[in-house]
Order: sequence, then C-alpha cells, then structure tokens
Amino acid sequence: MDVHRRRAKITGVGAYVPPFVLTNKDLEQMVDTSDEWITTRTGIKERRIMTQPNTASSDLGAEAVKQLLHKTQTDPNEIDLVICATATPDMLFPDTANVIRDKVGIRSGFGFEISAACSGFLYALETGAKFVESGLKKVIVVGADKMSSIVDYTDRTTCILFGDAAGAVLLEPSDDDTGIIDSVLESDGMGRNYLYQKGGGSYHPATHETVENREHFIYQEGRTVFKFAVNGMVQSIKKLMQRHHLSKDDIQWVVPHQANMRIIQSISNMFEFPLERIMVNIHKYGNTTTATIPLCLWEWENQLKKGDALILTAFGGGFTWGSIYLRWSYDPPATEQASPPDVE
Ligand code: UT7
Repeated sequence: MDVHRRRAKITGVGAYVPPFVLTNKDLEQMVDTSDEWITTRTGIKERRIMTQPNTASSDLGAEAVKQLLHKTQTDPNEIDLVICATATPDMLFPDTANVIRDKVGIRSGFGFEISAACSGFLYALETGAKFVESGLKKVIVVGADKMSSIVDYTDRTTCILFGDAAGAVLLEPSDDDTGIIDSVLESDGMGRNYLYQKGGGSYHPATHETVENREHFIYQEGRTVFKFAVNGMVQSIKKLMQRHHLSKDDIQWVVPHQANMRIIQSISNMFEFPLERIMVNIHKYGNTTTATIPLCLWEWENQLKKGDALILTAFGGGFTWGSIYLRWSYDPPATEQASPPDVE
C-alpha cells in the first residue's frame, strides 16, 4: 500500500427508517407463511415500510442526508459530491442522487447514482473514497431503497425478506492513519439469471403484458443466491485479511449485508468471529438492500472507537459482491443520536 496516498475517512453517519412496522404476524395474514418459518430461515421478525403516498427512495435518502448534515454540522453547500446507491431509483432517469440533492438543498458540486443491488453501498463507498483521494473534500455516500415498491406481496418467497430504509455517510480526507484502507469488489453477470427485476427497463419496457406477468417485481432463486452469497463474502473477506496479514483478533467489527441470519452465521463460523463483534439488526429491518450497512454503522456508532478495524461485506444481484477494510476515524459522539432509527 502506498503510505503517501491521501486516504478518505468516514466522519459521520445518518440514517432513516419509516415508522410503519410490518411484522411476521402481519405477513401471516397476507401469504401462506409463518413467523416460525421466517424467523428460523431468515432471522427477520419485522421490517419498515414507507406508507406515505407519493414518496420514493429519494425521500428516505433525503432524511438520512439531512440528519447526517445536522449531526456533522455541515453546510449543504460545502458538499462536493453525492453518490446514491439504490436498486429502486425514483425513476429510470434522472438519477436519485440529484433528486436527493434537490430535496436537501445541496446546490454545490454534483451527484450520480450507482446500481449494484445489495453491494451498491460498498461500490459507492469505494467510488466516493477515490474522489476524496483525488482531491474532493466532502463526499456524501447514500444507500436508499424503497424495496416495498418492487416487492410482490403475493409472493411468499420474497415479500418476507425486504424492508425500506436509507443510510448515509460523510467522507472527508484523513490526516491520520484511519480511514478506508482497501477493498475487494467483484461481479459476475451470469448472476442476472437468479436475482432480477425483469420489467421496466429497455429489455422489457412496461406493457400490459409485463404487468400481468408480474415482471415489475423482484424475482429471486433463493437457494442458488444463498450459496453464491456465502462464498462471495467469505472469499472477499479472506482476500483482504491475507493482503493485510489480519487475524480474526485484529478486526474489532464485521459489518455484513443483512440478507439472511444464516449467511451471517456462516461468516461468523468460517472466521470464528464471535457474533458480539458482528453488527446484526436484520431482525428489526430485514433486507434493506443498499441501506443495510450504513444502517448498522448508524446503530453501532456509539460503540465504535477511533482506530477500530472494520470489515464491511456484501453480496447482491448482478451478481455483485465484495468487502472493504477500514479503520474507524472518531470516538462516539458526545451527544445523543438526532433521531434513533427505531423510534418514530
Ligand atoms: O440481498 C441480496 C442477496 N440475497 C440473498 O443473499 C438471499 C439468499 N437466499 C436466502 O436467504 C434464502 O434462500 C431464502 C430466505 C430466500 C429462502 O430460504 P431457503 O431456506 O433457501 O428456502 P427454499 O427457497 O429452499 O425453500 C424451502 C421451502 C420450499 O418448500 P418445499 O419446496 O421444500 O416444499 C418453499 O416453498 O420453504 C418454502 N418457502 C416458505 N415457506 C413458508 C419459501 N418461502 C416460504 C415462506 N414461508 N415465506
């Protein structure tokens, strides 16, 4: 690693989850499922749903960014760049990052969107870090997904999994040895056959037929995705650990994408990371796609200490996967969180 390289560090975290809670018991009334099946097969107990009409992923993202700016006492017009990772853009174009910028009142700099499904936040974080490394001063990375907009609530294999949320981090140049150190990001387009939303793009533009065939909803071949997910996350963590000569005891926190508790457990078993050092909130929020990782950082912010080594890891549609190794850059903030994500 180039020791002279300017490094990017996370200097604040914001998040937002909508107040409406959809429980496993609620889902029992909607599809042929049970709280017992969902809990044992996924670890999920409840998820949040954006129920207000005329709202989109940008509204979730804007709330997270507003909180981030408030917590870090940052003037919106100091922001050089906003990158938004999402699998549920407000529209096919324009991109969601610029809608968020407008809703928050960020008039300086520029913004763009990144599409990498559940790995989107990691791809966006790495991209944002590169912009800081090459000279930008303040970059916001947002993961925002209104998954309920593409979930088929008659399909028991997917509707139990997903929730709506957003999380955002501020990236600034690091003047010490903390910050984003390295990443392993990978993808394989053959994965498009196992996890996708077929309708609405240039391949299958919206028609009565695509709507009737339910092509505007998520389709997932769960068992296949599960195997690739475990393998992708484990291999990318291994590569980072080998490259940096890290043992499990050198890593204070693992921050995994929250798709399935059994996947998280497999990672824990494989590396002998104790579950107490793995951030897990899947029981409360389900799979919020690009928001899972920043939502975890938000919830654990008060336990993170300057210098802690973190591994973030994710897997998603594409397939896309990867891990990021970083050293946390600040001690817990003295003040209370502006609005805890699990409190209305
Ligand atoms: O975030 C992006 C990446 N995504 C992932 O990483 C997700 C990876 N996959 C998974 O998490 C799991 O595969 C699922 C949670 C999606 C499914 O769990 P599974 O243990 O792989 O279940 P399965 O698909 O093998 O289904 C087992 C059985 C089937 O019944 P039969 O064929 O054995 O009779 C399903 O029809 O469970 C049935 N089933 C359900 N039963 C009750 C599927 N969904 C449900 C349900 N309630 N909601």
